[in-house]
Amino acid sequence: MTSTDVAGAFHQRFGVSPSVVTQAPGRVNLIGEHTDTSEGFVFPTAIDRRVWVAARVVEGPSRLVSDRLGDAEPFDTRGEIPGDWSRYAAGMAKELASWAGRPMPNLEAYVASDLPIGSGLSSSAAMEMAFGVLWQELLRLDLSGRELARLGQQCEHEHIGVQCGIMDQMASALGRAGHAMFIDTRNLDLAYVPIPSTLTIVVCDTMKPRELSDSAYNERRLQTIEASEVLKTCTLRDATAEQIEGGRDQLGEVRYRRARHVQSENERCHRFVDALREGEIDQIYVLMRQSHESLRDDFEVSCPELDAMAEACWQAPGCIGARMTGAGFGGACVALVERGRTSVFREAVSAHYLLHVADRMPRFLVCESADGAAVAG
Ligand code: GLA
Repeated sequence: MTSTDVAGAFHQRFGVSPSVVTQAPGRVNLIGEHTDTSEGFVFPTAIDRRVWVAARVVEGPSRLVSDRLGDAEPFDTRGEIPGDWSRYAAGMAKELASWAGRPMPNLEAYVASDLPIGSGLSSSAAMEMAFGVLWQELLRLDLSGRELARLGQQCEHEHIGVQCGIMDQMASALGRAGHAMFIDTRNLDLAYVPIPSTLTIVVCDTMKPRELSDSAYNERRLQTIEASEVLKTCTLRDATAEQIEGGRDQLGEVRYRRARHVQSENERCHRFVDALREGEIDQIYVLMRQSHESLRDDFEVSCPELDAMAEACWQAPGCIGARMTGAGFGGACVALVERGRTSVFREAVSAHYLLHVADRMPRFLVCESADGAAVAG
C-alpha cells in the first residue's frame, strides 16, 4: 500500500483530491509486557504494517470511510464522541483541541490499513497517531511525538474506556526502522537499539480475536495498583523481589502473582536489551520463554491458543525466541527467527499449532521494523 493508492481511493470516494495523507505503524512488543501500567520498561518496535489516512477539511460534519471497517456515522469534532470505530479519530480531535485550546476542523477522510485488527498489533494506537499527525499537519501544531503519544493514551482513557499504558502510542509515534525502542515509561526516556540484520520478526497470529479483553485489562491494572498500595511503593516498578516475597501474605495470592510478574518482567526487559546488544542468542530464547510463562502463570493473560502457538515456536527450526505479545487473551505471538529460515519456521509452527488448535488456521506476518507516524504525501 502506498500514499498514492490511498489518495486514489479518497478521490474515487469523494470526487476530489485529499489535502494530506498520513500513516502510522502498528507495533510488536519484543519484551516488557504489562509493565507500562506500572511505569515500567518496555521494548517494542514499530512494524511495516500501517494505518493510512487521506483527508481534507470540510465544513462539518466529519465523514470517515474505511476500506475495512465500512462507513462511519457522520460526527462533529465539537460534539459527542460517536459509538463506532470513528471514536478513535473523534477522541483524538477532542484531546488535540484541549491541548491546542481550539477545536479541530471536521474532515472527510479515507482510512486504509494493512495492519490486522484485533491481533494485538495496536491498530487502535496506529489510528490515533495517524489522525493525530493529520490534524497536527493541517493546523501546523507544534507537538512532539511524545506529546502526541500522551494524547493518544489520554484518548483511550477518556473516550475508549481502556486504561492502557503508553507503549503502543510511543512505538507508533516514534518508531525507527531497524531498531527496537527501550522505553522507560515513567519518564518516557527512550533508547533506540539496533535489531541485528540476521533476525527477522515473525508475528504468529493465533486468529483468536481478543474478545472481552478490555475489561480484563482494566482489572489487571487495578490489581497492580492495589498490590503497590499494599507494598507501599509508588508503583510496582519500585517494588523489589524481596519486598514482594515479604509481602506475600498481605498481598494475597492473586496480587502477589501479579506483582511478581511485573517485577520479574522489568528485570527481563533490561536483560533482554543487554543480550540483544551483546548478541547473546541463548539468553534471548530463555528470556522470551520466561516472559511468556510469567504472563501465562502469574499475570494470567494468555489463553490455550497463545500457549499452543508459543510452544510451536519454541520447537520450530530457526527460532531465536518467542512469546505472546500485546495485551493477550488472544492475538499473536512474536518470534525472532533466523533470517532465511522463515519458511521452514512457518511450516513447522503451523503444523504444530494445528495439532493443538484444530479449528483455527494461523496467519503469519513477516515484518520489518519501521519508522513512526508521519505525513506520507
Ligand atoms: C496493550 C496496552 C499497552 C500495554 C500492553 C501490554 O497493548 O495498550 O499499553 O499495556 O497492552 O503490555
